[in-house]
Amino acid sequence: MRRKLVVGNWKMNGSRAANASLLAGIVAGLGTARAEAAVCAPAPYLAQCEQALAGSALAWGAQDVSAHAAGAYTGEVAAAMLADLGCRFVIVGHSERRAYHGESNALVAQKVLAALGAGLTPIVCVGETLAEREAGRTAAVVGEQLAAVLAVLDAASLARIVVAYEPVWAIGTGKTATPAMAQEVHAQLRAQLQDKQAEAGAAIRILYGGSMKPDNAAELMAQADIDGGLIGGAALKAADFLAIIHAA
Ligand code: PGA
Repeated sequence: MRRKLVVGNWKMNGSRAANASLLAGIVAGLGTARAEAAVCAPAPYLAQCEQALAGSALAWGAQDVSAHAAGAYTGEVAAAMLADLGCRFVIVGHSERRAYHGESNALVAQKVLAALGAGLTPIVCVGETLAEREAGRTAAVVGEQLAAVLAVLDAASLARIVVAYEPVWAIGTGKTATPAMAQEVHAQLRAQLQDKQAEAGAAIRILYGGSMKPDNAAELMAQADIDGGLIGGAALKAADFLAIIHAA
């Protein structure tokens, strides 16, 4: 049985004051949740997460990482720095990074290696645009995105990743993939992972992301290969995020 994982992606939102009450609200409501839960905060607030969450059941992580270990890369943040701030997770290859920062499949693969090298769990995002879906290219696009990452991993490191399927047309739009549509892609990703390494591929968590909300989370996460969620908008309200965690 794969333990469900619910991860909040705050994107470029928050302030010290807002984060303090959001984090306190989430921790207070976690109770005996069976799912694992984490928040991925903007880099300047990771120290605040460490301070607020150390010793709690809520893990924290970052939204991006440099492919480089250290050196003359102005503005970038190294995986070892994230680990130094107690991060467990880092989102890699989010569609907003791919679209606005030109991140290629090859760069995403290098970032995954950097994250693993620092002991972090990379949450590898894949997903098709609306135009790609309408052209019938969903399977090919997400297949290529995942293949680029699998190509650089050995069996031991494969077991340490999390995958997130996020159809670009569903992110922040209120349009969710139906559970059946999402499961179809998740099953394809599962087969691809198992093809690389059967045991690790069966154990890897594949999250769904894209307008997951309290009212659709349970149905999505009831699908055979949907092992949790990567939550944007609904992760900014403690009550909504908690409802999704408890639905998992
Ligand atoms: P959303 O974002 O839940 O607001 O659609 C999800 C994501 O981009 O990770």
